[in-house]
Amino acid sequence: MSQPAFQRDDYTEFCEGVRRLTGIDLAQYKRPQMERRIRSFADRRGIAGLPEYLVALSADRDALEGFLDRMTINVSQLWRNPEQWDRLGTTILPELARTGTIRAWSAGSSYGAEAYTLAAICRRVAPGYKVEIRGTDIDARMVARAREGRFSADDARTAPRAELERAFDRDGDGWRARPELRMMVRFAAGDLLRDPVSPGAYDLVLCRNVVIYFTEPVRDDLHRRLATALRPGGYLMVGSSERVSSPQAFGLATSHPFIYRKS
Ligand SMILES: C[S@@+](CC[C@H](N)C(=O)[O-])C[C@H]1O[C@@H](n2cnc3c(N)ncnc32)[C@H](O)[C@@H]1O
Repeated sequence: MSQPAFQRDDYTEFCEGVRRLTGIDLAQYKRPQMERRIRSFADRRGIAGLPEYLVALSADRDALEGFLDRMTINVSQLWRNPEQWDRLGTTILPELARTGTIRAWSAGSSYGAEAYTLAAICRRVAPGYKVEIRGTDIDARMVARAREGRFSADDARTAPRAELERAFDRDGDGWRARPELRMMVRFAAGDLLRDPVSPGAYDLVLCRNVVIYFTEPVRDDLHRRLATALRPGGYLMVGSSERVSSPQAFGLATSHPFIYRKS
């Protein structure tokens, strides 16, 4: 339901307040979804309006962390979109392995499912090669979880069983990445919209299911910066329903659907 006109600016002020408190700029995210979620959280907590919600968040660190947790949607899965991993495993990774060390970045890594899936596939298709995978996410709690490398049975629902068993140990009802996988990945908190990128630092950048929440100009600028982080000949993989809107402008050529090669 749309908000009455007199409430429109309280959203902008709320975003500015959250930016002052946390450095996270909610105004960069698509307003309709974000605003609906924020208003419904406030509502469920019995808080009358956004100015009051901002006061409550300013006074209570736990409430603020809980709020941020809910804002950044962390859904992920091992071997999410298996067709993407097939493409990576059959063509891209073997090609990258021929050049020596594979340096990869899981940008918006959530609790690490994407980074560990990549690590598992690298061990299979490029055994003996040095692989360094960095995962970053704005949500520090997800980063802490990612470092543990633990996944539920549901997280593994689309994982090929043989590959899963080769790289993960049983952990109660779920799975834990083997130590050799955990040595290949490093996780850190980071804001993709604000942190500087190191030009040419990576052979492979994965940024999947992150930009769906961003406005189009913010999304395009992020894709441009991710392209900068690739060395010539490196690859960017986006989500299976996503695309880079003007790849040539960022020095990228479409290599496969959802995969771009830096020229
Ligand atoms: C839906 S998950 C995607 C996880 C994984 N890439 C995948 O495809 O399964 C989106 C992640 O993006 C993170 N995120 C959102 N905004 C971000 C930002 N500005 N900087 C870094 N991470 C961000 C969220 O915290 C969340 O964990």
